[in-house]
Amino acid sequence: METTPFFVLLFLHLGGLVLGFGAVLVTDLYGLLWIRDRVRFPQVVRVSSVTEKFIWAGWGVMVATGIPLLLLKGEVDNLMAVKIFFVALIGLNGLLLRALHDKVRGYEQGRDVPAAVLFRLSFSLLVSQIAWWGALLIGFLHRHVQSVIEWPDSPWLLIGLIAAALLALWAGGEVLVRRKRTAAEDLVDEVAP
Ligand code: HEM
Repeated sequence: METTPFFVLLFLHLGGLVLGFGAVLVTDLYGLLWIRDRVRFPQVVRVSSVTEKFIWAGWGVMVATGIPLLLLKGEVDNLMAVKIFFVALIGLNGLLLRALHDKVRGYEQGRDVPAAVLFRLSFSLLVSQIAWWGALLIGFLHRHVQSVIEWPDSPWLLIGLIAAALLALWAGGEVLVRRKRTAAEDLVDEVAP
């Protein structure tokens, strides 16, 4: 396992991490600056159109180098199954973020963006952080603590629980946003002549 090809691939793997996760952090930083009123909304959208390409490139490099790394290692333990779930989640979430990005592209002011779209954007960013940090932590544990980790006993149960928790959070948020909108519409109807 600890051969020259393995280390070359590991180096490229970490290069992909710098590229992809670095771009994620830049995007999120701009989002935070917008929330704190330090940058304007169109600037956030412009920056994320560029960082999006870096994120996909980094993710692609991680997958393209991760597969041969795994083949050289020759063992998929339970924790690796959880890592692969996180990697797939990053990809799926990236596709959803892309669709949301296209929706907000036309808005000049952040406050004009519908609350439901803002909620989905924030939720997507949360999912992205959980999945990147999860995959990062598991990669670190495998490399520096123990190379084979047969934990949890059932990776599918943990994966199912994480997926269920995220789905519940998303559904709860959608319901709350919808309720707020209906209350606001009722108020407008009452005030309107
Ligand atoms: C977002 C995606 C990914 C992240 C953030 C990530 C992160 C990491 C990190 C931080 C390391 C340790 C590097 C070191 O300290 O030297 C690592 C190693 C490794 N990664 Fe990934 N990785 C990702 C995707 C993948 C994929 C898709 C695979 C395989 C299909 C994979 C397979 C491996 C293997 C085999 C190692 C060597 C350590 C070991 O598991 O024994 N990685 N990864």
